[in-house]
Amino acid sequence: MKRDFLSVRDFTREEILESFEIAKDMKKDRLKYSEVLKGQTLALIFEKPSLRTRTSFDVGIQQLGGYSLYLSPNEISLGKRESVYDVAKNLERMVQGIMIRTFAHQIVEDMAKYAKIPIINGLTDLLHPCQAMADYLTVLEHKGKLDNSIKLVYVGDGNNVAHSLMYAGARLGVNVTISTPKGFEPNLIVWQNANEDAKKTGAKIEVVHNPQEAVKNADVIYTDVWASMGQESETDKRKQIFKPYQVNSELMSYAKDDTLFMHCLPAHRGDEVTDSVIDSPNSVVFDEAENRLHAQKAVMYKLMK
Ligand code: CP
Ligand code: NVA
Repeated sequence: MKRDFLSVRDFTREEILESFEIAKDMKKDRLKYSEVLKGQTLALIFEKPSLRTRTSFDVGIQQLGGYSLYLSPNEISLGKRESVYDVAKNLERMVQGIMIRTFAHQIVEDMAKYAKIPIINGLTDLLHPCQAMADYLTVLEHKGKLDNSIKLVYVGDGNNVAHSLMYAGARLGVNVTISTPKGFEPNLIVWQNANEDAKKTGAKIEVVHNPQEAVKNADVIYTDVWASMGQESETDKRKQIFKPYQVNSELMSYAKDDTLFMHCLPAHRGDEVTDSVIDSPNSVVFDEAENRLHAQKAVMYKLMK
């Protein structure tokens, strides 16, 4: 039975933790697992731009001994030039796995339903599960544990990154507080699902508005862009609304001396985060970026070995 990775919820808590152990081992020696994808090709479908996802999948697949095929936004036009069904039925005849970055989450769900090969979600409007895997691996490396003694506070837009951080926190037992302006809270169904999972691990998943209150006792303060890919026309309006949610030195001063600063990147310096924070010793943003490589190699290992 083929498996997909469309959401962090596709993995159990044990599978996530096992992936982190594999990722840590892979990180020590990039060539140790060089036969895992031998003879296998993964198609990388991008309908939005990317630096980290593109690079980390491309390099990760090579390090696992496989071949990656980049398909740019202009090439496929999922659902426009050709239906999602037909794309799935064509690609499954030629490649052994597909990573997709697209807009509607339903597209990756449909692709997974139609294709007989593993599908990996490289970001949709709803979720960014590979990012959350890299992020919690980073928290584990810096804090040495993933349980409800850890409080991760996400400040900003209740978007795809926030959703996957909620799902992963709930699965792992890490407390997650999302602090957003009114009207920009996370998706209600995601919040309900996360709360359902949190009952089993004891994690507290909460959504609040006041950022200064939220970051008190935080072990991690996380932010992301205020306007995600596809929302560019709202950029100016959002800059006004989100201004009180900027992660700057003043907001960091409400937290602890060793509170980590995290960001999935790309960052809009001067908007959601100031240079004084992203360039500070508390910032682990490039560790997160590197961990995309290791965490995703572990996900591919689990789905395709
Ligand atoms: N964090 C992240 O997904 O980066 P890219 O958009 O550059 O892939
Ligand atoms: N929320 C952002 C994340 C980019 C990695 C976006 O979707 O554009």
